[in-house]
Amino acid sequence: MCGIVGYTGKQRAAPLILEGLKRLEYRGYDSAGIAVPAADGFHVTKKIGRVANLEVETNRHKVAGNYGIGHTRWATHGGVTQENAHPHVSSDGAIVLIHNGVIENYTSIKKFLLGRGYTFKSETDTEALCNLIAYHYAKEPKAAADGESRLLESVRKTLLHVEGTYGIVVMGIDTPGELVCARKGSPLILGIGDGENLVASDVAAIVSRTQNVVYLKDGELARHTPASFSLSTVNEGDIKAVIDQVTWSIADAELGTHAHFMEKEIFEQPTALENTMRGRFSEDGSTAQFGGLNLSAAEFRQIDRFMFCACGTAWHACLVTEHLIERFARVPVEVDYASEFRYRNAPLHSNTLFFVMSQSGETIDTLAALREAKRKGYRVLAVNNVVGSTIAREADGGIYQHVGPEVGVASTKAFTSQLLIGAMMALYIGRMRDMSFSDGAAYVNALKAAPNLVREVLKQAPAIRKIAERFAQYSDMLFLGRLSLFPIALEGALKLKEISYIHAEGYPAAEMKHGPIALISEQCPSVFLVTKGEMFAKVVSSMQEVKARKGLIIAICTEGLELPAGLADELITIPDCDEAVLPIVATIPVQLLSYYIAVIRECDVDKPRNLAKSVTVE
Ligand code: M6R
Repeated sequence: MCGIVGYTGKQRAAPLILEGLKRLEYRGYDSAGIAVPAADGFHVTKKIGRVANLEVETNRHKVAGNYGIGHTRWATHGGVTQENAHPHVSSDGAIVLIHNGVIENYTSIKKFLLGRGYTFKSETDTEALCNLIAYHYAKEPKAAADGESRLLESVRKTLLHVEGTYGIVVMGIDTPGELVCARKGSPLILGIGDGENLVASDVAAIVSRTQNVVYLKDGELARHTPASFSLSTVNEGDIKAVIDQVTWSIADAELGTHAHFMEKEIFEQPTALENTMRGRFSEDGSTAQFGGLNLSAAEFRQIDRFMFCACGTAWHACLVTEHLIERFARVPVEVDYASEFRYRNAPLHSNTLFFVMSQSGETIDTLAALREAKRKGYRVLAVNNVVGSTIAREADGGIYQHVGPEVGVASTKAFTSQLLIGAMMALYIGRMRDMSFSDGAAYVNALKAAPNLVREVLKQAPAIRKIAERFAQYSDMLFLGRLSLFPIALEGALKLKEISYIHAEGYPAAEMKHGPIALISEQCPSVFLVTKGEMFAKVVSSMQEVKARKGLIIAICTEGLELPAGLADELITIPDCDEAVLPIVATIPVQLLSYYIAVIRECDVDKPRNLAKSVTVE
């Protein structure tokens, strides 16, 4: 959601902060701001809209200073205005701060501060936090007796009175070169450089300067100067920091020759799938193996039920996983929206293994579902792409996706990688139960074929673009599929609506006649995912029902299936493949279709309106 960048070192801070902010825009934005020291306080520049607007303004003033903070805002409290944008400066001018998260008790803090002469200019909860730090800063002696930083102490004292979530970076008027950071529920990563230190809400903002990072944990505070950094907790003194290495480089997060990150990430999928499965098949080639489950085969064998929680696209991946585990391993699986699970107090079977899926590993609802399941005493494993994310750290074990940074807001390569992990889990669990060696070996071969099958479908991109041209101007669309392709219909509808703003709905094809059929007309085309096997004839019947009502049809159909002549207005053929990989292969056309429709409609594909890459507020 909001993005944070801070720098202290020898370089001019503003250009480095602006570069970092640009790399964070994909996480959601509606305004941006920057603060660096000036002769008489802080030089604060804020602009509504893109970081590019802020850059023009910052360059106009030739803002100097070797340390500073910057922010991209995704509004929660208060509208999109310059006043509400961050950084916020305390009314006495002593403190400047950027904040991600929500301060729940800000009204009582504000009341306390109004009574002590502090004033407020914005409608935000953040300004209360900023003024409360200033209140404590004013009371702290300028040179703390025990050598402790005055700024750090005032932040620590403030946080003892704050309820809610925060990732903050703070600068003080009398503490040059110093940044104080704190985290509770909102990600912050410290970048440890050579003669310079950084902080950001996402590794992407700092990886061009250093690959040495410290993932701040909830309740921790950090103090950066150009030459040093230290870690402590809100309640106690210093603690030891663990420095991790980022495994990808800035080139991985760059566009290269592609027009958009979404396009780049769609075309990266064959390689991403290879990376997801690398080293994860047993030597005898009959099952999957996962290094980080922290659960022995014997313990896993005791599990007789699985519960999966996730949001958005990852929730669709859980639905496919449910289908595959139940189909191939014959173990019951339940899937819930993380946002619902966290509040509905669902009764869970005692031998349940809990899974959460999250590309970012920071989605607040998914994190809350994980915590709720752990609180109830369940072991929770995570399927997650971002190494070191909060979910990865709080889970009891899990499976990393290894697909590299996903920058496009619309999830693509992370989704197909989650589908692959789901299929591998079905194999792993199936082989512990009734799946034979030869069935397991055939299944492994089917999974290994997935990257090349995806390559085949990607070759059809120009033809799919032509179909997109025909359908780009409609304002409603239905996506219909059955069994494991029903979640792909949901995913197709989500992809289309989030990046092209066309209203779209996904349904199991047979459910169409229980309501959505009322929408069918020449003005509402349908995308059918046509399944082979016993469902083929039934899906064809649903298509006939659409045709009878003059609805246009795009059919995504496996090779070798013969549709009645004239039934499909447009046909996209995908290679015939095994059931375990069919959802992956069938996903590619819906991604390409949505992508090209959005491009033709001149939508901002990588930064769709109102959306954020990772949803870190409730
Ligand atoms: O990072 P996560 O996988 O937890 O994100 C979950 C959803 O917010 C995400 O999948 C969202 O639906 C995407 N915009 C879909 O393209």
